Amino acid sequence: MSKKVLIVYGTRYGATESASEEIAKVLSESGLDTTVINAGKEKVKDISVYDMVIIGSGMQMAKWTGGAENFLKKYIKELSQKKTAIFVSSAAKAMFEYDKNNEELEKIKKQYLEDKAAQYGLNPVSMVIFGGVWDFNKMSFIFRKTLSPVKIKIEEAGIKEVSPGCYDTRDWEIIRNWAKEMAGKV
Ligand SMILES: Cc1cc2nc3c(=O)[nH]c(=O)nc-3n(C[C@H](O)[C@H](O)[C@H](O)COP(=O)(O)O)c2cc1C
Repeated sequence: MSKKVLIVYGTRYGATESASEEIAKVLSESGLDTTVINAGKEKVKDISVYDMVIIGSGMQMAKWTGGAENFLKKYIKELSQKKTAIFVSSAAKAMFEYDKNNEELEKIKKQYLEDKAAQYGLNPVSMVIFGGVWDFNKMSFIFRKTLSPVKIKIEEAGIKEVSPGCYDTRDWEIIRNWAKEMAGKV
């Protein structure tokens, strides 16, 4: 019987959703029985049947989504005994890479992943920061205004505009390779 993997993700603008679906596709292609759940829309009823649980979240103001956090809280005991992996979608990462700001890169790795794992007593087989999306069309007026200096910086960094006002810093090859690596760890 195939091994079972659960991917639970939290998203505000959709970037973590499409990344999760891509990860699921690779896991399924590797012969794993894969379930994907949007934690903001659906309650997870039981995780006992899964051999591995992958938890992902988009970042906003250095915060995970409420849905992903609630899932971690609800299953804190079981997850600490289970094989887990965590990832986040972070559009800030590309800017720090552009600036070669290793100090900030280390800081977000700790803040977004290591501290989160420690907070919930997880011992993940892998923790990774993927790129994210800056979509100025989907932001509220206030966020669009606050983030206007970021837009200048994004353009300076040469990040491609995939459609007007939308900058995608995700590297699908990195996401797929990570998923393949996870398939080998289930
Ligand atoms: C208001 C706002 C705040 C953000 N804050 C952060 C942040 O603190 N760190 C970060 O890496 N990315 C930040 N981002 C970028 C998001 O992480 C990026 O858009 C990501 O793809 C969101 O994932 P989601 O679409 O799954 O919610 C922010 C984006 C917005 C709109």
